[in-house]
Amino acid sequence: MDYLRIQGPTKLSGTVTISGAKNAALPLITLALLAHNPLKVTNMPEVADIKTLLKLLQNLGASCTLQDHVLNIDTSTVNHTMANYDIVKTMRASILVLGPLLARFGHCEVSLPGGCAIGQRPIDLHLKAMEAMGATITIHAGYVHAVAPKGLKGAHIIFDKITVTGTANVVMAAALAHGKSVLVNCAKEPEVVQLCEILRDSGIDITGIGTSEITIVGTGGKTIDMVDFEVIPDRIEAGTYLCAGAITNSTITLERVRPDHLDAVTAKLEQMGCRVECSADTMTIHPAAQLKHVDIITQEYPAFPTDMQAQFLALATLAKGASSIDERLFENRFMHVSELQRLGADIKLSGHVATVIGPCELYGADVMATDLRASSALVLAAMAAEGTTNVHRIYHLDRGYENLEQKLRALGAKIERLKE
Ligand code: UD1
Repeated sequence: MDYLRIQGPTKLSGTVTISGAKNAALPLITLALLAHNPLKVTNMPEVADIKTLLKLLQNLGASCTLQDHVLNIDTSTVNHTMANYDIVKTMRASILVLGPLLARFGHCEVSLPGGCAIGQRPIDLHLKAMEAMGATITIHAGYVHAVAPKGLKGAHIIFDKITVTGTANVVMAAALAHGKSVLVNCAKEPEVVQLCEILRDSGIDITGIGTSEITIVGTGGKTIDMVDFEVIPDRIEAGTYLCAGAITNSTITLERVRPDHLDAVTAKLEQMGCRVECSADTMTIHPAAQLKHVDIITQEYPAFPTDMQAQFLALATLAKGASSIDERLFENRFMHVSELQRLGADIKLSGHVATVIGPCELYGADVMATDLRASSALVLAAMAAEGTTNVHRIYHLDRGYENLEQKLRALGAKIERLKE
């Protein structure tokens, strides 16, 4: 197993290019299941989660090649409809094949994803929506069996909770359903918006994109002549590099980024005393003379993202005063707290609220990555800590950050990948 060794404290400078968004690319790969033509997708992030999903599509019979961030994918040869446990257990987002497979073939079998490090994460809302569209769902031997022999039919669906992959799954199902679907209380994340825009650009009658109510007229089972597209920049990777500048007291510039997707993150950095300068596709972070404490509540887009919570917790350890971080989306997303404490952070956890008293004196230690974003928080803290930190179990990081250590090293960090 690999681990990262980081020498701190470190100063960064220069420019980093942001990769394509993993969380946009995942549903877009499964969107290809609705196309009858081969697709070319550019700015594809080359991270483990993407490779896992491509393997799943290949198992279904699709042909895919990913080279130099260009994905060529043809799903016209798909002849299996089972997403098996071996792949789904490693990546929950595999559930994104459910809507497209069911809509195109009238049946599919998808392993139940189960829980994960950050909580229970059910898929009940995905399943309820498919049932509302006429599917019969049974759960047997760890698999969701979904059938709709005459195809899915349009429905009026009100999501009980805002769900990102749930919205994406149902939008894709509705695109091939018979008749009109009205989806209420949808996720408005940029990743969902891009999925809807590609459907619109491919001729699907879809309105309300980027709002909480999306209306789609389905093709009645016919696959789509889909346009090629480029994956949007990764706002969470970008936010992580902004935090890297802030935590190391450095000025760095991000290229190939969408600043408008990061408004909530930028606002919190500014409240903490940093200055963020933006052009159409670049962002420069100017650090604070002394970071100020901050209060954060994680919520759905456009509010502050839960996927930036761990990184801001790391940052708050250097801020003067008491910061509070209230995690509202996932019940168990504070596994990084005890690891940050090993680095010297003064954090108290009470239910879903973490209170950080700073500034803390951080020092290097051995720490364990527990989930994707928690891992990057440990790397951030390590760059600010005095001495050597070893971050173990970085396979979590590799799931979603492309070339993290190469990018940080190019900015001046002392970071190397070693084998246990
Ligand atoms: C996506 C992101 C993830 C991010 C999360 C919240 C991808 C691949 N992953 O995950 O990085 O942290 O959004 O922004 O895009 N819920 C239910 N029932 C369901 C579905 C969800 O109760 O059927 C609950 C979840 O447990 C959670 C909340 O709804 O408490 C939001 O989850 P959801 O938006 O679905 O997260 P994901 O799409 O899995």
